[in-house]
Amino acid sequence: MSTAPLLEAVNVSRLFPVRGSGGLLRRRTLQAAVDGVSVQLNPGEVLAVVGESGSGKTTLGRMLLGLTPPTTGEVCYEGRDLRSLQGEDWRRYRREVQVVFQDTGGSLNPRYTIADSVAVPLRYNRDLSGPAAAPEADALLEQVGLPAAQFRHRLPHELSGGQRQRVGIARALASQPRVIVADEPVSALDVSIRAQILRLLAGLQRERGLALVFITHDLGVVRALADRVIVMTGGRVVESATADALFDDPQHAYTRQLLAATPIPDPRRQVA
Ligand SMILES: Nc1ncnc2c1ncn2[C@@H]1O[C@H](COP(=O)(O)OP(=O)(O)OP(=O)(O)O)[C@@H](O)[C@H]1O
Ligand SMILES: [Mg+2]
Repeated sequence: MSTAPLLEAVNVSRLFPVRGSGGLLRRRTLQAAVDGVSVQLNPGEVLAVVGESGSGKTTLGRMLLGLTPPTTGEVCYEGRDLRSLQGEDWRRYRREVQVVFQDTGGSLNPRYTIADSVAVPLRYNRDLSGPAAAPEADALLEQVGLPAAQFRHRLPHELSGGQRQRVGIARALASQPRVIVADEPVSALDVSIRAQILRLLAGLQRERGLALVFITHDLGVVRALADRVIVMTGGRVVESATADALFDDPQHAYTRQLLAATPIPDPRRQVA
């Protein structure tokens, strides 16, 4: 039995070309969106990634998802560098590590009914035939709080933002993942809907023992949801701590600044 973390970034950096100013003499230079970050995710763990806009959170998430290759360093799944995964091993990684985007609407095919959208990963990732996929898609819709009879035939534009995000979660679950990377999954939603979607994600995470990488600006959410937190600024991790330690005794000045900028409800002091 291997003792490697489930998913791990080892000293990863990602450079992007930026156009410099300077007219005819301008040169393309490289800028690090992520700069020497290491992070480990264990089975069933909720890891929050926080930091200001442009700090590299999405780029790190995309590297963990195998969508953006690191310029240097490596991403490992079950201890194996993604670049060495082939055939069935690669397929299994792609199946077991799923994503929920900020705006699921954009990733749903506008011409597919939501049942069809959920059935796609059932067919491709779980080899279920059409007739076998239909009841499974219904069950997934029910699990995310969308009564199948009422919703299965609807098109994405016939849903609210919160309902579309539920479809995005159902589609991620269809592959029976062990890890979900959720990149600002509620920040495009109305404040009144956010808590519902977060409760849904938290409940599924617990029931299924999912590991969750939760990328967010919202420190209030982190306190309620996360086991561990990394704080990023300028592409680097400046603090990595358990959620309790981070809120009770932040070590880095930048973390203190972030905390000071957000009122965080202390869950222990909340009245039910
Ligand atoms: N494909 C790309 N090409 C060039 N630069 C990029 C690319 N993707 C990201 N960047 C740059 O890398 C930096 C980090 O971007 P990233 O999207 O990872 O930040 P973020 O922390 O997710 O920000 P936000 O909170 O606004 O979503 C930014 O300066 C961004 O402009
Ligand atoms: Mg982002």
